[in-house]
Amino acid sequence: VTWLEWADGEGAGIRGAKRWRAPRDFDAAGPEGKLAPDGRPAVSYASNDYLGLTQHPAVVAAAHAALDRWGAGSGSARLIVGSRPIHAELEAALAAWRGAQRAVLFPTGFATNLGVLTTFGGPGVLVCSDELNHASIIDGCRLSRARVEVYRHRDLDHLAALLAAAPADQRRVVVTDSVFSMDGDTAPVDELAALCARHRALLVLDEAHAVLGPEPELDALPELAVLRVGTLSKTLGALGGFVAGPAVLTDLVVNRARSYIFTTAPTPADAAAALAAVGVVRSSEGAQLKGRLRALVERVRPGHPSPIIPIVLGDEARTLVASAALLEQGMLVPAIRPPTVPQGTSRLRVALSAAHTDAQVDALAHALAAL
Ligand SMILES: Cc1ncc(COP(=O)(O)O)c(C=O)c1O
Repeated sequence: VTWLEWADGEGAGIRGAKRWRAPRDFDAAGPEGKLAPDGRPAVSYASNDYLGLTQHPAVVAAAHAALDRWGAGSGSARLIVGSRPIHAELEAALAAWRGAQRAVLFPTGFATNLGVLTTFGGPGVLVCSDELNHASIIDGCRLSRARVEVYRHRDLDHLAALLAAAPADQRRVVVTDSVFSMDGDTAPVDELAALCARHRALLVLDEAHAVLGPEPELDALPELAVLRVGTLSKTLGALGGFVAGPAVLTDLVVNRARSYIFTTAPTPADAAAALAAVGVVRSSEGAQLKGRLRALVERVRPGHPSPIIPIVLGDEARTLVASAALLEQGMLVPAIRPPTVPQGTSRLRVALSAAHTDAQVDALAHALAAL
């Protein structure tokens, strides 16, 4: 069998399962745009641009200015000649935002999780990972060659038992999304922190979607070692990832993480956009945008803790039909199916943004109710 024949067979298998996917152009600058192939108008409820900062004038202007000053690319890895002053400035702003000593930038959030977990995992280390963690955490765990134990979703008793069963001298890591990307629910961060402190486990928190919190209470546990992973690509409207924490940990990341060392530095324009976005998020305007986002979430699912709202339908075919029916009404709400989510939990995944209008969110709420 040639490679072309093999790939064709693999593709046929995916198509047969009705899981074949391909990117589809959405010509948009914000929630409204035109969807290929026919250019039909649609409103997206699928983006992670939670505060609408991809379009914020200060964010866009900062990217323009960086392009003019440093050009399009960084041209090299950070440790060679790819570091520009804007990278260090952004790292300082991210560290201050996270209340950490230092932050380290990566090209993406995905690369950050790979870099962090391979730096602190390793043979002889126990890594405990929530069963619904993001793919980049799962891959980071695999790549680390640590002993990985997956604990039941948000189950503190299960996690405590796994930590307690480990030999006393074994190094331990607990890794979790703080807001889960397909369910929009939150991890019990304060309880996890207390558990980690008790077992001297390093807590790795992936806060990629934590635009509305939870804001962890970490100061109460001075003996706790914690690393906070984030992305520049969602709330901050740019592209890139970072980890924030004590300098002794982040400096080791710089020296060990292959997804930091052997890759080109983020573009100056992305770094400048993210820096401007951190400024917006931490300002009164940022508080207002978060308040607006929270109010929009209330319109769709009162009391829900995040802008990611799953509507679990279970059956794959039914979920596809529901997504297509919404698209007929000009609403782009993706159907999320296995292997992205567990079998039998196919769902529509709504992601709201402060950039949505009240009318757009009300129209969605009506359409979902009618479904
Ligand atoms: C929880 C979580 N972590 C990490 C990532 C990866 O971030 P990035 O898109 O910046 O690679 C994502 C989503 O993409 C995510 O949902």
